[in-house]
Amino acid sequence: MYQIFVTDSIGDDHVLEYRKHEFRNLMELLADRLYDDIGECRGRALCGTCHIRVWTNGAKLGKQELVEKQTLGDQYEIFDNSRLACQILLDGELDGTKIEIIGGD
Ligand code: FES
Repeated sequence: MYQIFVTDSIGDDHVLEYRKHEFRNLMELLADRLYDDIGECRGRALCGTCHIRVWTNGAKLGKQELVEKQTLGDQYEIFDNSRLACQILLDGELDGTKIEIIGGD
């Protein structure tokens, strides 16, 4: 069992546990456990509802595709560690990662 530490959009903290291959990406875990309104575009990097900030324990998150950069660029606020959760593969590498949910505009 792996763990992710999540601060939601109202500042509440959660510890979410997951198994390898339980979810295809981080957005699916968040939608399943915390939010119904994340994932409007079903993981196509178009809606921005899964905008998060990420602090890993050195895990590599994978390259940002152009569509993710464009969607993040359309957000009201963007940070150095902004990502779309739907574009992050949820594997054991992410164990111990901390994220903050920003959400879409
Ligand atoms: S689910 Fe729409 S951008 Fe991630």
